[in-house]
Amino acid sequence: MARILGSLSASHVPSIGGAIARGLQQDPYWKPFFDGFHPAQKWLEEQKPDVAVVFSNDHGLNFFLDKMPTFAIGAAPVYSSADEGWGIPVNDAWPGITPLSWHIANHVVAEEFDPVICQEMLIDHAVCLPLACFFEKNGTVKARPVRIVPIGINTVQLPVPSLKRCFEFGRAIGRAIESYPEDLKVVLIGTGGLSHQLEGERAGHLNKEFDKYCMDCLASSHPEQLEKVSTLELIEKAGTAGLEFMNWMTMRGALIGEVHEVSRAYHIPISNTAAAVQVLEAMPRLAQAAE
Ligand code: DHB
Ligand code: FE
Repeated sequence: MARILGSLSASHVPSIGGAIARGLQQDPYWKPFFDGFHPAQKWLEEQKPDVAVVFSNDHGLNFFLDKMPTFAIGAAPVYSSADEGWGIPVNDAWPGITPLSWHIANHVVAEEFDPVICQEMLIDHAVCLPLACFFEKNGTVKARPVRIVPIGINTVQLPVPSLKRCFEFGRAIGRAIESYPEDLKVVLIGTGGLSHQLEGERAGHLNKEFDKYCMDCLASSHPEQLEKVSTLELIEKAGTAGLEFMNWMTMRGALIGEVHEVSRAYHIPISNTAAAVQVLEAMPRLAQAAE
């Protein structure tokens, strides 16, 4: 059976792509950010996952404001990137794993979720850059050590799903992965956040205290306590683009059972964003009560 090893989460600011392309990992502005990935890279070298299920929000490559699915599941053989207009290099493609994508899709629909299933899907900076930071070791390794299943969550345009709904969708995905018959090692990746707002009067808004609270809750035995944070409260506390925390919440839903926090990094700011990296390892479930 497939086994979930743990989760990796990271912010996905586009300028990270420019920093990788220019080799700025040791630059004083960037060093604290890139150093935050070292424990995750070490953990990945030990764990050697086969597959990454990546929870993120599309920024316009697949869906625009006129057609915005609440939840999307990638079921493509390969995921290419494209020019998003940020002036950063276009990333190489990542391979998919369509049997697992369809298994997840069938399972979550049977659990009464209604995602759009995408047999063609582009991946933007929200998928490519965290994958590069976790797997490419300073952008120098171009091998693709994992196949991916991208999961899209509408964090962009109201109405967005509640944190409760995201968590429960994640739970269904976690159950789907754990019921996949092949012996695959799966890592979950949540991208975006933490607090940031890119437009309007509150552009530049950051909230260190709330970000810490969110990461503490995710690392605890009761991440569902975050369900009490309403969408408007999340916008108020974390900023409009801070809604991307919904990706982390969905990811944590899929990480069923107790977790051990392997590492955490938090650096303010990268561009307009409170940049964070968190690694949670799934604890053996034998002694735990059934879900
Ligand atoms: C920035 C952050 C994002 O999450 C994003 O998608 C685009 C830009 C930023 O801080 O510049
Ligand atoms: Fe974003």
